[in-house]
Amino acid sequence: MSREDDRVLRFYNEVLGLDHLHYGLWNEEDELTLSNLKEAQLRYENFLIDRLPPSAQKVLDVGCGTSAMTRRMLSMGLDVHVLSPDETQKNNFTENLDAPFYHCRFEDFEPGERFDCLVMSESAQYIPYAQLFATAKKSLSTGGFLMICDYFVLDNARGTMALSGHNLTKFRIESKKNGFKLMEERDLTDRVAKTLDLGNLLAHRILTGLDILTDKTRKKHPFLTRMAFRLFRKKWEKLNRERELLDSEQFKSQKRYLFLLFQLSEASNA
Ligand SMILES: C[S@@+](CC[C@H](N)C(=O)[O-])C[C@H]1O[C@@H](n2cnc3c(N)ncnc32)[C@H](O)[C@@H]1O
Repeated sequence: MSREDDRVLRFYNEVLGLDHLHYGLWNEEDELTLSNLKEAQLRYENFLIDRLPPSAQKVLDVGCGTSAMTRRMLSMGLDVHVLSPDETQKNNFTENLDAPFYHCRFEDFEPGERFDCLVMSESAQYIPYAQLFATAKKSLSTGGFLMICDYFVLDNARGTMALSGHNLTKFRIESKKNGFKLMEERDLTDRVAKTLDLGNLLAHRILTGLDILTDKTRKKHPFLTRMAFRLFRKKWEKLNRERELLDSEQFKSQKRYLFLLFQLSEASNA
């Protein structure tokens, strides 16, 4: 994960006050508001919790984010271990929670013990998929589960949309190659798309606000405005380019947001 991604996540958490760093599951009738996003994120957390296999007592939360899901699993009496390469998340976790924390990328993880279930809630996209399955195999006990909820790129995806997320076809092939059997799959694409619509609405408001401000300043201080524009032009262009990623119709036609529950077949982790 790049420093930039980390800043984006901190923005969601520290500026927008979101307890979770995932898309969330919206209801069809929900209006685009931050409080509905918070509800959607809690609905998503419940969705994952309801699907934890009953045999999963020892769980590794891979990419814990704000640790909201970890807290929830700890409150259920599960033996939860946590992994994240991020410094802020590590400090937040170790200052507030008492559970084993591994400060590393999953692909570099050398497990000293085996887990019943690995939970990757929107973290699988950051882990190169061949290494994801290789490390998952080393980390799971016999018949252990790998729970993934994330977006994937379809074969027809082009341009900016194709840049983030694993290719779904290749991901499926790699899972089979490594002995992971798909036990449950749910397509949640339509239910998460409103998070992009909300992001787009907020970005539109911010850009319009900046436009109004610069319009006034341009008239009063034309020289200063030109200088500021030169300084921030790249950031401004990047912000506009990244708005493409918030196009929910493009997202729906080029990506799939999936819940996947795999089980490692018995012979595969020997
Ligand atoms: C979008 S956040 C999701 C956080 C949390 N699981 C949630 O659902 O709110 C992505 C998480 O993946 C973590 N991450 C990024 N690269 C990773 C890697 N190579 N291995 C493990 N975790 C990674 C980030 O630090 C962050 O905690």
